Amino acid sequence: MSADAWKRAAAEKAIEYITPGMKLGLGTGSTAAHFVDLLGQKVADGMTVVGVPTSEATKNQAEALSIPLATLDDIPFLDLTVDGADELDDRLRLIKGGGGALLREKIVATSSDRMLVISDFSKRVETLGSFPLPVEVIQFGLRATLQLIEVLSSDAGCEGDIAVRKSREGKPFITDNGNMILDCSFGRIDDPEALDEALKYVPGVVEHGLFLGIADHAIISGPDGVVVLDAEQIEIAAAEEH
Ligand code: A5P
Repeated sequence: MSADAWKRAAAEKAIEYITPGMKLGLGTGSTAAHFVDLLGQKVADGMTVVGVPTSEATKNQAEALSIPLATLDDIPFLDLTVDGADELDDRLRLIKGGGGALLREKIVATSSDRMLVISDFSKRVETLGSFPLPVEVIQFGLRATLQLIEVLSSDAGCEGDIAVRKSREGKPFITDNGNMILDCSFGRIDDPEALDEALKYVPGVVEHGLFLGIADHAIISGPDGVVVLDAEQIEIAAAEEH
């Protein structure tokens, strides 16, 4: 099976968790797009749900499928957000933002009762950080912001190349919010919580792609089948080990 087929399989499992009347956060990226596609089929079959998209791309896809949409101003509290991830570890800590939508994704996920991550098995890692951490920054003072990120990340044990993300045309990539993205190639992030704290000190940082303590469940699809992980169960198991 191809990576895309695994992504589809995870989305198919996720759709089983959707019940009529749910208020849903709709993620961004190729895996979330499968979920939105399947949700569109449910809506066409008569299921009533309302979705809050995490990007303009997802909004366009959902509109084309006639999925009823709202904003967080209309409904500030959602039942469930379903979204992909670039990496996830065994404690369901995530790196997100490969598609550049991390800010809206984090706002929508944290406005939801639960967050369900859907992914193919290649995203599962022991230590976060092989995937460059996306950091959304305002355009003003870009170099100063980059330098401060470098210094404070190093204090948090993370060093590596920090690059301004470029679009396909070679121009700086601009997010849906009018900001830029710095991709931080740290290789490994041994203490994501320390890095999270460090990045909060940088005024030019709008948000970063570490999702810590946000995901409640993960559906991971791969050659061994579809695995469903539950953050609460993982915490209980970890507490029992100590
Ligand atoms: C979008 O900004 C990201 O957070 C995506 O959710 C993440 O990059 C996963 O994307 P794929 O599902 O395309 O791998």
